[in-house]
Amino acid sequence: MAAALNPNLRQPALVAVHLFTCSASTRKVPAVNTTTRTIARESKTGELDAPTMELRKFANSPGRSDKAENRALSPAAKPSAPFSMDNIAELTSKSATVSSLTLPVPLLCFHFANLWFAGQAGNWPLANYYFSEGRNHIRWLIRIVPNPKGPDGNPVDVKGIFDGLDTTTFADLKKVIDEKDAQKFPEAYRTTLESCYQCHKAVGRPYLRLMVPKTVPQPIINLDPAATWPK
Ligand code: HEC
Repeated sequence: MAAALNPNLRQPALVAVHLFTCSASTRKVPAVNTTTRTIARESKTGELDAPTMELRKFANSPGRSDKAENRALSPAAKPSAPFSMDNIAELTSKSATVSSLTLPVPLLCFHFANLWFAGQAGNWPLANYYFSEGRNHIRWLIRIVPNPKGPDGNPVDVKGIFDGLDTTTFADLKKVIDEKDAQKFPEAYRTTLESCYQCHKAVGRPYLRLMVPKTVPQPIINLDPAATWPK
């Protein structure tokens, strides 16, 4: 039987669409398609539920625009509660029909890529913000999918892996940010990416090889710590 998709899920799914900005150059079209495909793939019955149909219709509509995107959302699906890690995690964990990873992973990618540029700009409060957000999204991912399959098909204890990273490479990077150490930042950042990659290998995804980002994912936060506008 097709489990009805929690209508609230339309909100986080579309939030993920908005924030899937890691591939900045091809932002709009693949963003929507990726999300739609993932949701459809995870459907137990192979049938598309209503929100997925809406997303697909939207993804395939010619002249797609933010207006069209708004139309794809019924008024009932408009955000009613504040967007917080906890309420989204709770919502997603209740649904068997949506790939929950569609949500935290792009956000993790987004925050960690922005972190590089905040650090390069010496904007330490912003770097601290992106670090914490990125870290929270890894913890969220672990809560939703605690035991993904490894390369040998056996479940992997990703929490165990992350606990190890959190107290070593992540803690070191946090310290460098707290100490506003521009000199040590690049190396600490790279070491963290190397440690992220250990988890990707452990879950059988060695092709998710990370790199230091080349373009700023977000377009609207001023990285300059000395900026004076808006007041
Ligand atoms: C605890 C394990 C774990 C850690 C630690 C981890 N990841 Fe991942 N990551 C995953 C898994 C699992 C996936 C695949 C998710 C899926 O199946 O969609 C993934 C996917 C990704 C993707 C691919 C997103 C996409 O679909 O294009 C990126 C980018 C990524 N991670 C970045 C990072 C970064 C950056 C870090 C460190 C700051 C990190 N990850 C740390 C488990 C981890």
